[in-house]
Amino acid sequence: MTLKFPKDFLFGTATASLQIEGGDTNNTWFEWSEAGHIKDKTHSLRACDHWQRIDSDFALHQTLNAQTYRLGLEWSRLEPKEGEFSAQALENYRYELKGLNNRGIVPLVTLYHFSLPLWFSQRGGWVNPQSALRFWRYVDYVARNLSDLVQDWITINEPNIYLTMGYLRGEWPPGKKNAVSEMFEAARNLVRAHVLAYDVIHHHRPDARVGVAHHLRVFDPLGGPLSHLSAYLHERIFQTMFLESMTKGRFILPLGRGYPYGKRQLSDFIGINYYTRDMVRGKLGVEPLHGILEVNKKSDTNELGWEIYPRGLSRLIEKMWKRYRLPIWITENGICDSTDQKRTKYLINHLSEIHRCLQKKIPVERYYHWTLLDNFEWIEGESARFGFFHNDFETQTRTLRPSGKVFAQIALTKELNLSDG
Ligand code: FCB
Repeated sequence: MTLKFPKDFLFGTATASLQIEGGDTNNTWFEWSEAGHIKDKTHSLRACDHWQRIDSDFALHQTLNAQTYRLGLEWSRLEPKEGEFSAQALENYRYELKGLNNRGIVPLVTLYHFSLPLWFSQRGGWVNPQSALRFWRYVDYVARNLSDLVQDWITINEPNIYLTMGYLRGEWPPGKKNAVSEMFEAARNLVRAHVLAYDVIHHHRPDARVGVAHHLRVFDPLGGPLSHLSAYLHERIFQTMFLESMTKGRFILPLGRGYPYGKRQLSDFIGINYYTRDMVRGKLGVEPLHGILEVNKKSDTNELGWEIYPRGLSRLIEKMWKRYRLPIWITENGICDSTDQKRTKYLINHLSEIHRCLQKKIPVERYYHWTLLDNFEWIEGESARFGFFHNDFETQTRTLRPSGKVFAQIALTKELNLSDG
């Protein structure tokens, strides 16, 4: 069977600056790698050396027949010292963005994706009351200088993952464990940063489309009322809190109350990063907020042990459409699969779920696969492989995987052949 996508549906891939560029010593992930925290002992300094390979990497998108590309800007390169901007870094990004536009590839630009300038983190990062204004100054500079080349923006990638890993689990910079009140302080500053960025981008380009890449998971309760309560709280604190404040300006507890920035639209689309679901087991004696998160034993998993659950994607899309009535862009979706045994099926099954939503007239407009090429996967390092292209990090040779070939065909024809999976 063949499923048809609308002709104006855009297919592409997503990356993040820190994960592919290499060569930057001025950011928090450099420091974190230096401190020996990366599980496989690789280092963010190498990554895919993309900063030196902008020209040759254009061909990767062309091989995939991509119509769009989500890329990140590295704040620490653009503003290496507080208030001082680098004309050379700006020029490099302008070069890349022009190259994409000239090739008919629509850029979607992420302003902040987990890595921060060292000067910013030394001043307390997102906990500092000035943090949102600092972000605003950077975004003002970027939007003023790039708006002729970029219409579509993501202000912040996955605030929930950043805060969970950095302030509750202590596995990512700034490495804090159970720092709950700091976590909420940082969360409020991230919302404010988004609001300021949303406005300043529109100031420089009134027809801009601005949103957030939300990491959304499905939380399904295993069993009775305690599990239901726990699943509800997980969903509220991990995602609803960010969705409501960053889309409509509505603060809900425990983040806050009311509309501190007024009741207004603060996102032009809903960006969904979708990977997996958690089964939630509430237990007496375990705080409902913590519950116990389990992986569904009946399903297949990726190499990091995450459940593969395509239906979750359409469940989330339907929920977001019902709640916000905004266009939906799938800003990330992909699988850690070094042998490429499961990626094609993963891709086809997730795209089928999007198709199911399109048939219900839900405006899903874009799909960004995570990711273009194997890269520096944060705390996992280089060994977690999510790419359509295999990357040999020693020689920086990129080789198309079979799943990438299937993607290229889908992107070209805008048709999904179910028998390919
Ligand atoms: C997401 C991140 C992205 C990448 C994928 C696998 O949570 O946004 O940078 O790490 O997971």
